[in-house]
Amino acid sequence: MIAASTTVVAVIGDPVRHSLSPVMHNAAFAHAGLDWAMIALPVPAGDGAAAVSAARTMGVAGLAVTMPHKADVAAAADHRDATVQRLGVANTVVFNGGAATAYTTDGDGLVDAMVSADHDPAGARVLIVGAGGAARSIVEAMTRRGARAVTVANRTVTRAEECAACAVGDAPVSAIGLDDMGDVVAEVDIVVNTTSVGMAGTDHEGALVVPGAALRPEHLVVDIVYHPLQTPLLVAADAVGAATLDGLAMLVHQAVRQQMLWTSQTPPASVLRTAALGALGLADS
Ligand code: ATR
Repeated sequence: MIAASTTVVAVIGDPVRHSLSPVMHNAAFAHAGLDWAMIALPVPAGDGAAAVSAARTMGVAGLAVTMPHKADVAAAADHRDATVQRLGVANTVVFNGGAATAYTTDGDGLVDAMVSADHDPAGARVLIVGAGGAARSIVEAMTRRGARAVTVANRTVTRAEECAACAVGDAPVSAIGLDDMGDVVAEVDIVVNTTSVGMAGTDHEGALVVPGAALRPEHLVVDIVYHPLQTPLLVAADAVGAATLDGLAMLVHQAVRQQMLWTSQTPPASVLRTAALGALGLADS
């Protein structure tokens, strides 16, 4: 029940009506018995800074930020945490006494999901396929949290190099093209797909971005695509007996961190996952 007392947070994006953030966050607020609510606000490209200012004026407690505003919001905030400073993008804003602090929970969300599944990337060799915004967050978080070595493989090698530059610390990080990925797969512990290859409704629906024959039972295989939940990559990984993490894992755990930042409480990830699965019309698993 939304009342005059309700604390409001909002997800901003363009498009935003498809976002799973409101169902996940509202389920978490309800679970905790908090008088909080999340709404989705469509904000046109280029208006991210104006949205931060408007939210501050209206007493919105926090923002979740999706495409195309992540860089604009990072720049518009009054304060930025170390990861936002490094990556130049933010997916979360906390308003405190009128000051906006920007955070990014995407990369840590994926690492948290791995840790929860007993696959801590600390000490692991990791192959990240793709070099977009998600891959950058993941490279930063994995290296900050102790990955032993990281390889970024991308269709466009220059973007892989830029993505590799987001690494923190001394672990070796290399950038390669997709054609050179075959041998690397055999040498890593964790494979993460951050590209849209395999996503339903695209022209590469059903396609495998990693050579399926290279997958081994010892691998942890992660896909951040969640439409479908069982992507071709995860089906191939499952078939060889590898451990898998589906695309809702990162989505749910980055949202758990947002809850922590806004409310100082940590909701059970299962509450958010069940809500997201419900919104997708899928049964819990
Ligand atoms: P996000 O910010 O969500 O990670 P993005 O910046 O659009 O998304 O990045 C998409 C990633 O998927 C990129 O690594 C892209 O490769 P390029 O950098 O070469 O464009 C990758 N990608 C998209 N379609 C692909 C395809 N058909 N085959 C291989 N990689 C693809």
